[in-house]
Amino acid sequence: MSNKPILSCSDITKNFKSESGDGELRILRGVNLQIKPAEVIAIVGSSGSGKSTLLHILGGLDRPTRGDVYWHGESIYKHKPDRLAELRNENVGFVFQFHHLLPEFTALENVMMPALIKGVRYSDAEKRASYLLERFGLGERLNHRPSQLSGGEQQRVSMARALTNHPAIILADEPTGNLDEKNTDNILQLLFQLRKEENVAIILITHEKEIAGKCDITYTLHNGILES
Ligand SMILES: Nc1ncnc2c1ncn2[C@@H]1O[C@H](COP(=O)(O)OP(=O)(O)O)[C@@H](O)[C@H]1O
Ligand SMILES: [Mg+2]
Repeated sequence: MSNKPILSCSDITKNFKSESGDGELRILRGVNLQIKPAEVIAIVGSSGSGKSTLLHILGGLDRPTRGDVYWHGESIYKHKPDRLAELRNENVGFVFQFHHLLPEFTALENVMMPALIKGVRYSDAEKRASYLLERFGLGERLNHRPSQLSGGEQQRVSMARALTNHPAIILADEPTGNLDEKNTDNILQLLFQLRKEENVAIILITHEKEIAGKCDITYTLHNGILES
């Protein structure tokens, strides 16, 4: 298999207008990053250092002030927004601190959703979603709605959903930030296992040093750049 980066960015700069509107907040000041297939990278940094901003940019959810993002070696900005959204749905899985599951749908339906959007046959989407939910220990919870699940279970559903379309990479923004130690360990163990089974790369934003220690590389976002 190719060992070329599946995701990279060059010289990412991001400024926000300051509250008063007359100045600029320089949040990212030239971030360079490369991630190879099945690699797991942790990004740590104090609150407000720009970790979420960077992850959104890498996932094509937000645009940098300057710089470029490449998926499979191709700049994502050459695509029209609709095409970029399609590519994102097929290549990138997101996991956020709060699960963002659709409350009116069951766990199974939530996990099937990305596949249905992609145009996968209903029966195939269902098969993949039940497999993933079982893999995440939720085989008995397929027809529960998010409100009927515990916080840890909700987060496992959202991880399963991130994997539905066999993405090359998962972008996880403090996915265990709301969970207790036991749930955190449980979820991370699964994530690391699945990384091998599914050959998926992961960028994991975390506050916890112990979690970062389990990743292949840890970077600290500090003063707008990544330090190793
Ligand atoms: N849309 C926005 N407009 C203005 N400022 C923003 C916006 N999004 C984030 N920021 C600011 O950028 C900084 C970095 O935010 P964020 O990326 O969420 O940090 P982190 O995830 O590391 O805690 C913060 O100071 C935040 O207030
Ligand atoms: Mg954040």
